[in-house]
Amino acid sequence: MVVVLDFGGQYSQLIARRIREGHVFCEMLPFNTPLAELKAKKPRGIIFSGGPSSVYQQGAPVVDKAIYELNIPILGICYGMQLMALQLGGEVNRANRHEYGKTELEVMPGDGLLCCMSERDQCWMSHGDLVESPPPGFSILARTGQAPVAAMADKDRGLYAVQFHPEVVHTPRGQDILHYFLYDICGCTGSWTMGSFIEHTVAEIKEEVGNRRVLCALSGGVDSSVSAVLVHRAIGDQLTCVFVNHGLLRKGEAEAVQQFFRDGFNINLIYVDASQRFLNKLQGVADPERKRKIIGEEFIRVFEEEAAKVGEIDFLVQGTLYPDVVESGTATAAVIKSHHNVGGLPEDMRLSLIEPLRWLFKDEVRQVGEELGMPTDIVWRQPFPGPGLAVRILGEVSPEKIALLQEADAIVTGEIARAGLDREIWQYFAVLPNLYSVGVMGDERTYAHTVAIRAVHSHDGMTADWAKIPYDVLERISNRIVNEVKGINRVVYDITSKPPATIEWE
Ligand code: XMP
Repeated sequence: MVVVLDFGGQYSQLIARRIREGHVFCEMLPFNTPLAELKAKKPRGIIFSGGPSSVYQQGAPVVDKAIYELNIPILGICYGMQLMALQLGGEVNRANRHEYGKTELEVMPGDGLLCCMSERDQCWMSHGDLVESPPPGFSILARTGQAPVAAMADKDRGLYAVQFHPEVVHTPRGQDILHYFLYDICGCTGSWTMGSFIEHTVAEIKEEVGNRRVLCALSGGVDSSVSAVLVHRAIGDQLTCVFVNHGLLRKGEAEAVQQFFRDGFNINLIYVDASQRFLNKLQGVADPERKRKIIGEEFIRVFEEEAAKVGEIDFLVQGTLYPDVVESGTATAAVIKSHHNVGGLPEDMRLSLIEPLRWLFKDEVRQVGEELGMPTDIVWRQPFPGPGLAVRILGEVSPEKIALLQEADAIVTGEIARAGLDREIWQYFAVLPNLYSVGVMGDERTYAHTVAIRAVHSHDGMTADWAKIPYDVLERISNRIVNEVKGINRVVYDITSKPPATIEWE
C-alpha cells in the first residue's frame, strides 16, 4: 500500500483515486500523522499532495524531516515538492508570474520518473512558489518557462518530486508517471482489486471485532447496505442491523429495506419507527446545518437505546464514504456541509465506529456490492443523504410537506426509470423549496407549493453536472405532479452544476 499525505490540496483525493485505478491500495492521511503511525502501516511509497499554503507562510504544514530517512520512496507533488526542496536544503522562491493551467514542459533526456514523456510535453500547473535550485544530491528532470526545476529526483535516496499535477487529466502522461512511481520505484504489484479489498476488509473486521457484537446503522442506501453485507460476511450473526425510520424516507422505502435484509440476506434486523421523535426535534428548526446536526445526533441516540436493549454491543457500523470524510473537514480541508454520518456525531458517543467504506468512492462501493452478489436494484440505487428528505425540504419540516414531497419524488423516480435513464443519471429527485405561487386549475385560482426537480450526472458526488433530461420526460413528470399531487401547482427544473451549487439543496 501507499500513503498519500494530505496537505490540503484541491486534487488530493484525485491522487488517491488514480493510485487505486492503478490497482494499488492507498490511504490518505493528514500531513501531521506521527511518523511511528505512518511506519506501522508499512507503506511501499509515500506521496506528498499539493496544498494551498506557501512553505514560507507562518504555520505552513510541514513533515518530520526524519521521513526522508525511512528508506521509503517519496513523491512530492506541487506544495509537496516545494516542502521537500526546502527541508532538504534547496531554494524555494515566490514565482514572478504564477503558472496556472496547461503548461509546456521541457523534459531532460534520461530514464526514470519522466521516461514516458517526450522532450516537450504538456502538464498542468497550479502554483505560486517554485523551486529555484534543487537540494544537494538531486538532479533536475524537467523545467518550464517559469520554473527552472519542474521535476527533480535523488534516485539514490528514492526521493522524487514534480511541480505539476500528474493526477489531473490535463497532464496527459500523468497516470504513466504515477504508474512508474508505484510499480518501478516502489515495487507495487498492482494486486489491489475489489475482490482483494473485500478479503482484506473482512479479515480486518474479523480481527478487530473478535467475538464481540456489532450494531449497524442501516439506512437502506447503497453505502450502509454494502457495509452491512460486508460486515455480515465477516462476523455473521454477531451483527445486528438497526433500521431507523426517521420519517424522512422516500415513499415505500421502509418496507423495501426490511424485505431485502430480512428475507434476502438473513441478517438480524431491528426496525424502529422513530418518525414522531425526529419530527418533534425538528419542529421550528429552519437552519440547514442545525437540521443536519439534530438528525445526526438523534440518530445516534436511537442507536444507543437499541444497543442497550440488544445487550453488550461494542461497535457501530456506518456507511461513511470517502467524499463524506473529505467534505466534513479533515485536518486540512474546509467544512462545506456537516454530513450527518461524520460531523453530526455527538462527542460523548460510547460505541467505536467501523466504517468499512471510508476509503471508497461511490462507484467503487457499487463494484464491491456487485462482487458481494447483492441485487442490482440495491447496488444501483441512487444515493440518498442520511438526513433524508429534511435536506430536500427547505426551511421547517412538517408531516404535510414530507407527504407532498414523497408523492412528487415517487413520480420523478418512476418516470426517470420508465424512460430508461435511471442508471445513466447519478441522482434524480424532487425538492420542496417552500415556495408558494399562484396558479389556475379548472377555473379556480390556486396558491400552492412549487416542486423543483433535481437531476445530476456525477462520478463520485464531489462534482456534478445537471442532467439534460429530454423535454418530453420533463413534461410527463410535470403533468403528473400537478395533476396527481394535491397542493402542488408548479414544477421547475434546477439547472445548476456542482460547483457552484451542491447536489442537495441544503
Ligand atoms: P452535496 O449536496 O454535498 O451532496 O453536493 C453530495 C452527495 O452526498 C450526498 N449527501 C449525503 N450523504 N449524508 C450522506 O450520507 C449526508 O448528510 C449527505 N448530504 C448529502 C448527496 O445526496 C450527494 O450524493
